[in-house]
Amino acid sequence: MTTQTANTIGWIGLGRMGEAMVKRLLAGGYKATVWNRTASKAEPLVAYGASIAASKVDLAACEVVFTMVSTTDDLKEVLFGTGGLTTGKLLPKVVVDSSSISQEGSAEIRERLEAMGVAYLCTPVSGNAKVAKAGKLLMVSSGPRALYDKAEPYLQAMARKVMWVGEGELARVWKIAHNVMFGVVIQNLCEITVMAEKAGIPRHVFLESINDSVLGSMYTRYKTPVLTNLDFDHVTFTPKLLLKDMDLGMASAKKYGVAMPAAAATRESVSRMVGRGHDDVDFSILLLETAKDAGMTLVSENKVIDDGLQAK
Ligand SMILES: NC(=O)c1ccc[n+]([C@@H]2O[C@H](COP(=O)([O-])OP(=O)(O)OC[C@H]3O[C@@H](n4cnc5c(N)ncnc54)[C@H](OP(=O)(O)O)[C@@H]3O)[C@@H](O)[C@H]2O)c1
Repeated sequence: MTTQTANTIGWIGLGRMGEAMVKRLLAGGYKATVWNRTASKAEPLVAYGASIAASKVDLAACEVVFTMVSTTDDLKEVLFGTGGLTTGKLLPKVVVDSSSISQEGSAEIRERLEAMGVAYLCTPVSGNAKVAKAGKLLMVSSGPRALYDKAEPYLQAMARKVMWVGEGELARVWKIAHNVMFGVVIQNLCEITVMAEKAGIPRHVFLESINDSVLGSMYTRYKTPVLTNLDFDHVTFTPKLLLKDMDLGMASAKKYGVAMPAAAATRESVSRMVGRGHDDVDFSILLLETAKDAGMTLVSENKVIDDGLQAK
């Protein structure tokens, strides 16, 4: 990608993920111009070398525009809504979206963008903002292979590994499957942790043993501090976003005719957590809800625990 504004990246969406990801690009020596609906979130990026766009259409001149917003409708809004990226005289060349959205919504967006001559790559990610900050994201793309090859250097600057899984919206299916497992694992981890604690094993001891077993993963390790110390105000991912992803998973299960009983039970549990009013807290507050169902009130164990996510 080496035309008029070579090395200039446009970025829309500076939530938890977007902010951490664009900072990796800036640290990698790329120039970025950013836009966020809530403008105050963009201002601190200037100290990291970013320029701020007054409007989304101004980003159309960039070599590539990345988007990282919440839902399918939000992505449509920033691309095609009032003042959207594609609504000016100049059309963007390439849009790379990393939001977790539906396969159908993504296909509709592809159709609209490609009809305008705008290239489109889906690149959802695995990892939360702390993982992104540490440069440890996995980024999985789908769309034209040649486009992926051109975008790869940018993706490499944000990730520990990048992959291309095929044409069209296949990366959306990958992300939906990934987040179904993300939900099912936290559901099960909460259940077994509560059971172990009720039987008498301290949480940090139980979690340490799981982390060092064949079942331990980067995910169980980085959730261990919050599950031990109950510090749910440090939000990595909200209950509502997890419910969105479980719903995307159930829709895919229906579409492809695959029975997913573990995912279905988890979806209901996450829905109950959202219904109980948990909003701007970490989704792992599911532990407290699971404990309540077992007649337990948990307290913090106040332990200093390494989550293995030091920035590199
Ligand atoms: N957090 C994670 O661990 C994680 C991991 C992988 C993938 N994801 C996915 O990444 C996406 C972003 O997640 P996040 O945790 O960064 O969410 P977040 O902190 O809630 O940020 C959402 C971002 O989208 C913007 N936005 C939402 N609706 C918009 C609209 N209609 N118009 C313009 N901007 C809009 C928000 O702008 P404002 O600042 O103005 O609200 C904000 O910049 C989601 O699809 C999520 O499922 C999250």
